[in-house]
Amino acid sequence: MNTYAKRTIWRKENNPNIIQVIDQRRLPHELIIVDIHTCQEIVDAIKDMTVRGAPLIGATAGYGVMLACIEASKNQNSFVYFEKCINELRASRPTAINLFWAIERQLDALKEGKNWQEKIEIASKIADQIIEDDIEVCRLIGVAGLPILEKISQNKKGEVVNILTHCNAGRLGCIEWGTISSPIYQAHQNGMKVHVWVDETRPRNQGANLTAWELTQAGVPHTVIVDNAGGHLMQHGMVDVVFVGTDRTTRMGDVANKIGTYLKALAAFDNQIPFYVALPSTTIDWTIKNGLTEIPIEERSQDEVKYIYGWNGTSLEKVLLTPITSKASNYGFDVTPARLITGLMTERGICAANEEGLLSLFPEYK
Ligand code: MRU
Repeated sequence: MNTYAKRTIWRKENNPNIIQVIDQRRLPHELIIVDIHTCQEIVDAIKDMTVRGAPLIGATAGYGVMLACIEASKNQNSFVYFEKCINELRASRPTAINLFWAIERQLDALKEGKNWQEKIEIASKIADQIIEDDIEVCRLIGVAGLPILEKISQNKKGEVVNILTHCNAGRLGCIEWGTISSPIYQAHQNGMKVHVWVDETRPRNQGANLTAWELTQAGVPHTVIVDNAGGHLMQHGMVDVVFVGTDRTTRMGDVANKIGTYLKALAAFDNQIPFYVALPSTTIDWTIKNGLTEIPIEERSQDEVKYIYGWNGTSLEKVLLTPITSKASNYGFDVTPARLITGLMTERGICAANEEGLLSLFPEYK
């Protein structure tokens, strides 16, 4: 992977107040780096999914707060302006808790700043820290998850371990390692034979476009499948384990993730296939208990369902799939109840998907 693509977000060389990101709407066909100059541009990048994936949304929002401080310091109504920026950041996407976590982490720290100059310095440091923390946390998720794959590999006497995944919970959804990809990369680097079934993940095709691109870059064998194929593969012994990410996990272990995750969990349960969720603890919403009723589920434009983007040989093209007058609905996420989840892979190890399990790893939230 070239150096630009190594991380998903970074500061521009020679101008640290310009944030650079990979435009994820253009992958896998074009690797385009976008410059972000203002808090409004951060909001737009999160909304239009130039950047996406819970940890990366949080990290991007961290820089959004930094840019809001810089802009507020030059504004006559600085506090009003700053509050407006924060509200817009908060409204950019509803489901991934990392967005709100990063903003609160920044606002807490900013209380120490006596003037805008101090606030800018604090926000700048915290934004960088969020990035560094995510990289280490994802590496540790890999350390926690690797033994799951090692055990399957041993049981299969070194034969290929088949992992099924949904959406993109790899490095593109995070900063460097990714969550579910971290144990997979570590296994692959250790010489284990792994193969990933990649759900295409309609409507935005994060699997076909992003996960497949990442795995190609990393040299990990993989096969893209239509979203409805997973159950069939599981019934025929072609899946050893399911790994997915999450946008918000309740303290009882219910998991919101990309729409369609729940159906994969049901199929895995019916076929006695282990179903693991990888998450940094920043994705746990300790304030809520019932995933089904308390997690806000994003509804996006019906055009994402009605139209599809593809490469026509020279450029990206948007084409219509449905009758022009048909209505479409577009729920972005669903909730997988804790009872269908074999375990949660976190930076502090693996636990049962329930309150007791989570608190055993994170006793500070008792
Ligand atoms: O709508 P997206 O692409 O932001 O949704 C992303 C997912 O659902 C990911 O699986 C989740 O955020 C985990 S990313 C490590």
